[in-house]
Amino acid sequence: MIPISAAPSPHAPASPGYSAGARRLHWLVAAIVLAQFVVTMLMPEFHRETPPDPLITLHFSLGLLVLLLMSWRLAARLRRPVPLDMPASPPWERRAARATHIAFYLALLLAPWLGWAAASAHAVPVTFFGIVPLPDLAAAKSGWAFKAGDLHALMMWTLLGLVALHATGALVHHFVRHDGVLQRMLPRAGKPR
Ligand code: HEM
Ligand code: HEM
Repeated sequence: MIPISAAPSPHAPASPGYSAGARRLHWLVAAIVLAQFVVTMLMPEFHRETPPDPLITLHFSLGLLVLLLMSWRLAARLRRPVPLDMPASPPWERRAARATHIAFYLALLLAPWLGWAAASAHAVPVTFFGIVPLPDLAAAKSGWAFKAGDLHALMMWTLLGLVALHATGALVHHFVRHDGVLQRMLPRAGKPR
């Protein structure tokens, strides 16, 4: 097995990478999103009159937390752009990696609002960890917001598939190509820049 702190290979990326804060935020969001899928599989299904349930409140709260963290992360990325740096990869692969990153931002910044609107349509109150009550985004039983809920579910299951691809890609870079791509995102990889 290649140790994570292995010396950089001749293919190691050369551009300044992610700051220590960006790396921490990446893994924090990844952990919350993966936990969110576990909660999603355990929570009761939504019906028109779904009664309040702690797992549903947790689903809303983790989702809203991800929305906040991703907004922060997007602002940080716009202030300090990080170019993709996969020197040993063909162009199609770089395009696929870039498209996946954009899809992550789109899904995690847009789909939570659709879920929120769906919760309002189901007349389930949305709170942040049961402490901060939030307003409804749609009228109860509103048709467009039920459709928004379907779109929310579709976007999030697609996201899970993309996460599997993204993680597999990162592991192939590390264990097969040894090209330093995974190190760019690991907490102890090089000096924080
Ligand atoms: C990281 C963010 C989120 C992820 C990954 C996520 C994931 C999912 C998934 C996969 C489903 C479909 C479940 C199924 O097929 O039975 C779902 C349903 C739902 N989610 Fe989320 N969610 C997130 C954020 C939110 C937020 C912020 C809210 C509300 C404030 C929310 C409200 C809902 C509702 C109401 C449904 C049921 C939709 C319907 O069936 O009409 N979600 N979520
Ligand atoms: C829910 C889970 C995940 C999400 C939402 C996610 C999202 C992202 C996003 C948006 C980026 C682009 C950089 C940025 O804007 O910060 C990125 C980069 C990266 N991710 Fe993930 N990620 C997840 C899980 C993982 C896992 C499990 C791995 C490794 C096994 C991984 C490895 C990487 C690496 C190595 C990069 C840097 C690619 C480069 O060189 O630019 N990610 N991730």
